Amino acid sequence: MFHVKHKVSRPICDYEGSRYSSVFWGKGREYEDQVERIALRRLLPPHSRALLDIGAGFGRLADLYRGANRVVLLDYSLSQLREAQERFGADERFLFVAADLYNLPFVGNLFDTTVMVRVIHHIVDVPGAFREIHRVTEPGGKFILEYANKRHLKAILRYFLRFSRVNPFSQEPYEFAPLHFDFHPAYIEGELQRAGFKVTESLSVSFFRVPWLKRHIPLSLLVSLDARLQKPLASLRITPSVLLKSVARKGEANAPRGFFRCPRCGSERLQEGSSALLCPQCRAAWEIQDGIYNFKNPRDF
Ligand SMILES: C[S@@+](CC[C@H](N)C(=O)[O-])C[C@H]1O[C@@H](n2cnc3c(N)ncnc32)[C@H](O)[C@@H]1O
Ligand SMILES: [Zn+2]
Repeated sequence: MFHVKHKVSRPICDYEGSRYSSVFWGKGREYEDQVERIALRRLLPPHSRALLDIGAGFGRLADLYRGANRVVLLDYSLSQLREAQERFGADERFLFVAADLYNLPFVGNLFDTTVMVRVIHHIVDVPGAFREIHRVTEPGGKFILEYANKRHLKAILRYFLRFSRVNPFSQEPYEFAPLHFDFHPAYIEGELQRAGFKVTESLSVSFFRVPWLKRHIPLSLLVSLDARLQKPLASLRITPSVLLKSVARKGEANAPRGFFRCPRCGSERLQEGSSALLCPQCRAAWEIQDGIYNFKNPRDF
């Protein structure tokens, strides 16, 4: 008999059908995009055997993964992944996987690099997400995380000038809109540590995320100033966005033999069908739809 793991389901901020790439990243966010890229490039290892981008969306950052032999773009939204596929589908190193990050469809220790940018602000169960990322990251593997910082300079000023009653110094996550959270640096770093990660590097990003500055100062100047400050001022954590690089601490493990695992029952013995991966243990068929591995709703076989 098989054992079905009953997972507590957590609410997901669903991007299915959203126009995230054109509306959010349309005109006006060039500065944020460029400074995040600079920071991520600084933190990515020059070479990766297998890199997982969690909540990759339409693959905004995936052109930075040149040093990776295998790149997995994972997102809950199929429509985001289709956009990503249009951009990177021709590159054989890429795999596209639709799944919930709380229950990743991979065997343990599979990735030497895991990346998650602009996703944790949608996460209600941060400890659960970190535990799962730690499970799939190999011992000594790197996890690069971007989070939205509630203790940034503007929030501190607003609080002291009494424009806002949100205390930027309290450590609990602040839900400023449904399923949108800002986090205190100590909370994120504490939870990373509890999950088995050790933070080794940090960068503070987006010092000049102020509409007036973005309108009046040339983009290239703002970007180059930000790039210069990211490292020296990192320890202050006063920017709205922070990137951390952590190492997964865990005992040495054998190299993983498989790749996917069934997110319904945890079996690592999935078999390739003609257009699905079949789980012999719980009899879930996980469809492969136009090149996207869909681990959202299985069909029973
Ligand atoms: C703000 S977008 C960020 C996309 C990309 N990382 C970037 O920086 O452009 C957040 C992404 O997280 C995905 N997401 C949110 N919750 C998720 C979950 N539980 N599992 C997998 N993906 C999730 C959404 O579908 C969306 O594509
Ligand atoms: Zn199964």
